Amino acid sequence: MGYAERFSDLAVKDTPIILGIESSCDETASAVIRGREILSSVIVSSAAEQAKYGGVVPEIASRAHTDAISEAVEGAVKDAGISLSEIDAVAVTYGAGLLGALLVGLSFAKSFAWTLDVPLVCVDHIRGHLAAAYLTDKALKPPFITLLASGGHTAILYTKSYDEFEILGSTRDDAAGEAFDKAARVLGLPYPGGPNVERLAREGKACIEFPKMFKGNGYDFSYSGLKTAVLNYCHNKEQRKEAYSRADVAASFQSAACDVLCERAVRAAIEKGCDTIAVGGGVAANGYLRESLEKMCKAKGIRCVIPEKKYCTDNAAMIAAEGLIQYKNRNFSDLSVNACAHIPLGKKGKQ
Ligand code: KG4
Ligand code: ZN
Repeated sequence: MGYAERFSDLAVKDTPIILGIESSCDETASAVIRGREILSSVIVSSAAEQAKYGGVVPEIASRAHTDAISEAVEGAVKDAGISLSEIDAVAVTYGAGLLGALLVGLSFAKSFAWTLDVPLVCVDHIRGHLAAAYLTDKALKPPFITLLASGGHTAILYTKSYDEFEILGSTRDDAAGEAFDKAARVLGLPYPGGPNVERLAREGKACIEFPKMFKGNGYDFSYSGLKTAVLNYCHNKEQRKEAYSRADVAASFQSAACDVLCERAVRAAIEKGCDTIAVGGGVAANGYLRESLEKMCKAKGIRCVIPEKKYCTDNAAMIAAEGLIQYKNRNFSDLSVNACAHIPLGKKGKQ
């Protein structure tokens, strides 16, 4: 009998206690939720170590996860004030991400679930980002529009049910987070790029007209043109030995990158007749994006659900939240499940 089959007669609870584990990139995270309530969330980041190399070095990430995983899970259980016997399921990111990094969390989760004799629920990291909104607004129910803006994905989704979404549009080249990271490099800012661009942008004005390569009435995005425009602007100024404000470049880039996300999300909500927009992914931690979207939504009478900043960037509460959906669907995994470096957006099915 496979491990998942062992739980085929399990009476699923309405508000189960789920332990989440995340280790897809440079954050080792663990969290406990009870239903949609967050009981604890621990995040141990190796970003400071990665910053020395200007980006995430996979082997360094794997080693950091190996060092931090036990402590992160122990901390999450302790902070939640629960006993191990109260855990109803273990949810873990099985992909997408760095393979060696994923394997640390996945292997830990397998043995932990097996020891506790509870179901193992494998979660797609991106679906985790989307599920974070359910923890923010406990009454949130599909259908609604989701704006996804992370380091690897940028898309407008029509979320039809807890488990199903339609991709209305996505990026044709770079993701929004990737564009922030590349702009940061041009501006000589350290890793991680996004928060550092935001910090610098606060000191400048959005007074440079970067070309908006996002014409048309669709929902697709393109960020490579914006990145090149920032690069060309800085290089031209430097070649001509003309002074320019890096803060103004950061502010102008930030507004060009974020305005299009907000505009497309609001237009999708109006065209689809949805009264709610939920947001997920690291770029949703951006203060300018949060304020702009809230303002635009308010003007159109649309409700806007943006998770707290710490639940926009990588965390394990969002993995537990998606785990809750899969637990209720009885989508339990076998212990033979493997980590997966790439998962196409929208892929569904049993892991
Ligand atoms: O969702 P995420 O944590 O990881 C995945 O890609 O799954 O997103 C990371 C991305 C990075 O590209 C980072 O630069 C960006 O989110 N990011 C931000 C901010 N915080 C993180 N971008 C803009 N402003 C921020 N405050
Ligand atoms: Zn992420």
